[in-house]
Amino acid sequence: MSILDSRPALKAAVWQVAETAGYLWTKGWAERNGGNITVNVTEYVDDGMRELPAISEAFPIGVELPQLKGCWFYCKGTQKRMRDLARDPMANGSIIRITDDCAHYEIVADNLVMPTSELPSHLSVHNYLLAKGSPYRASLHTHPIELVALTHSKKYMEKDVATKLLWSMIPETKAFCPRGLGMVPYMLPSSVELANATISAIDDDYDVVMWEKHGVFAVDTDIMSAFDQVDVLNKAAQIYISARNMGFVPDGMTEEQMQELSDVFGLPK
Ligand code: 13P
Ligand code: ZN
Repeated sequence: MSILDSRPALKAAVWQVAETAGYLWTKGWAERNGGNITVNVTEYVDDGMRELPAISEAFPIGVELPQLKGCWFYCKGTQKRMRDLARDPMANGSIIRITDDCAHYEIVADNLVMPTSELPSHLSVHNYLLAKGSPYRASLHTHPIELVALTHSKKYMEKDVATKLLWSMIPETKAFCPRGLGMVPYMLPSSVELANATISAIDDDYDVVMWEKHGVFAVDTDIMSAFDQVDVLNKAAQIYISARNMGFVPDGMTEEQMQELSDVFGLPK
């Protein structure tokens, strides 16, 4: 028995997370328990589910998030592996509901799996997205090798230096990650400070932000789309590195060529 039984839409959303988790492992971005995913699944929750008792006490989020009143999220479990989640999402993640005080959550799921340690960042971002009226419902944190490597140079931490470099490697990068890559200086993982800095970066009009010397945090309508944005950026970083490994600095597309893409395809930047 699973709370996903007879809830096909919820089940599909959870299994899309599982499929994405498998890609993260295959990419080499998900060592051990690395990375986390949350999806706002409120729209798939029915009255029967709303009446289910919690299987945990109410835990504090660490911040008060008024937009999340009555919201439900699927969350990767803390210390759980993406490669295990890919096989069994309800043993390596759980569904939580936000309590009416908007400051706590309780687990309503098949197993007592505590949500990711990055919950303050994930939930703060979901709160921000709802306040803005955004259609985005999924957030992804992962450790893509080449993108993280870039952040070990101060030059690439400067605003839009990495964005311009990555966009210039192949036209698809700007087309499919049209807001580029925001930068967040190093902060303690799982801290409220990191959560607030992540929101500021997203508010500065980015869908994907880098946590210096750690990983990326990406948002989109669903989890596969958030993954796609990171995937195109990391592919561009790999092309850059391949050229450097061949012994030259790649020319990159010109400013005019990148502007033409924006004009023709109506991109936001
Ligand atoms: P969790 O296992 O708590 O999700 O943490 C993984 C991670 O990448 C922390 O930044
Ligand atoms: Zn991490």
